[in-house]
Amino acid sequence: MSKDDAGKLWGGRFSEATDRFVEEFTASVGFDQRLYRHDIAGSIAHARMLEKVGVLSAAEREAIVAGLQEIAAEIERGDFAWSVALEDVHMNIEARLTDRIGIAGKKLHTGRSRNDQVATDVRLYLRDEIDALDAELKRLQSALLDLAEREADTLMPGFTHLQVAQPVTFGHHLLAWFEMITRDRARFADCRKRVNMLPLGAAALAGTSYPIDRAYTAQLLGFDGVTENSLDSVSDRDFAIEFCAAAALLLTHLSRFSEELVLWTSAQFDFIALPDRFCTGSSIMPQKKNPDVPELVRGKSGRVFGDLLALLTLMKGQPLAYNKDNQEDKEPLFDAIDTAYACTRAYADMVPAIEPKRENMRAAALKGFATATDLADYLVRKGVAFRDAHEVVGKAVRFGVEQGRDLAAMSLEELRQFSADIGEDVFAVLTLEGSVAARDHVGGTAPRQVREAVVRARARV
Ligand code: ARG
Repeated sequence: MSKDDAGKLWGGRFSEATDRFVEEFTASVGFDQRLYRHDIAGSIAHARMLEKVGVLSAAEREAIVAGLQEIAAEIERGDFAWSVALEDVHMNIEARLTDRIGIAGKKLHTGRSRNDQVATDVRLYLRDEIDALDAELKRLQSALLDLAEREADTLMPGFTHLQVAQPVTFGHHLLAWFEMITRDRARFADCRKRVNMLPLGAAALAGTSYPIDRAYTAQLLGFDGVTENSLDSVSDRDFAIEFCAAAALLLTHLSRFSEELVLWTSAQFDFIALPDRFCTGSSIMPQKKNPDVPELVRGKSGRVFGDLLALLTLMKGQPLAYNKDNQEDKEPLFDAIDTAYACTRAYADMVPAIEPKRENMRAAALKGFATATDLADYLVRKGVAFRDAHEVVGKAVRFGVEQGRDLAAMSLEELRQFSADIGEDVFAVLTLEGSVAARDHVGGTAPRQVREAVVRARARV
């Protein structure tokens, strides 16, 4: 039987060529080539370590490092011919290295397997991506704080059940988003600790008989330490799942935020405007200006939830140690990375451009009896039991609904029909300003508290 693909790095024990479709079906180079920089960095560190422990000569190591650097430049220039027959990024680069430098190239894979190599590459890659995402999250946090500070006095209705509940300040509302993003950043930072451990040295699954120095390789690559167990090292994908879980939660937050922006830009709410550069029009309705960015972010959350579920399902049935199934970890992980990054970047760009329509927000807060709780609290201060106060105010609201008037628009006589405990001083609590100023404690909506919260938050960013 003839072997027409003798170029395969593992071809020795095979007596016939790989089926053409199987070759394509099993290849990952189409999507794992994005790991090339990290694959090369890992190989350079591995070669240095092999030299340190006496497995490679200085000349061999030098040839390997120079060859790999030239390959990186080739790839950057777009001059590298990726081959599906060479299956993945690792074997494409290794084969090219041997083309370029000969026998020394064939020594690079000593004491290593693609199993620990790919685990190393993905960790290195994800570490960089977490750092890039964190920078965007930080930018989004700062944008939220700047806007919250500017809008510390802006009044709007706060909602429960999407019904007007109590007045809040827009700054306070924005700080709720800040808190969510702060927790997201903490989750990614925590995930990064477990990402940043070196699996290299586990080789195929059992370790290697060469006198390797894993701590040295870890140090060269900036890992915090080495993984403990070789079987776990090559098969663990918890770190990728954790990233996707954190990304899913981030996208949940951005999706909720999006839903509010979509509502607020509608003619019915009309609380904010988004500049034209974040919107698009309709091909048929000339008047339309659609909030595409928030809508897309809301939609993209579904992809990331899918990525998380794909990885959980990928892992649940795998016996130790490495299985080819693991090759399927990359596309969901890359998709989650790309989506989380793009959505965060879009938000970091867009939030500073939000234009609040303060008059509309204020008018909406005046419409829904938002200060009813304040009237009940006022009666309690006059000695009325809270449940009785609740009943009194409920009746006043019913009257207001019939009359089409808010509580603050009623006369003292009208209000006193519901309780003789109501006096002239009631009007101070029925205003929106009085209502928010009264919620003057840590975590409350008073403008003073919002400003102090912004100061504390800046120290946390
Ligand atoms: N392309 C493979 C992956 O992504 C690399 C590791 C393959 N190892 C093996 N023994 N087939 O997981």
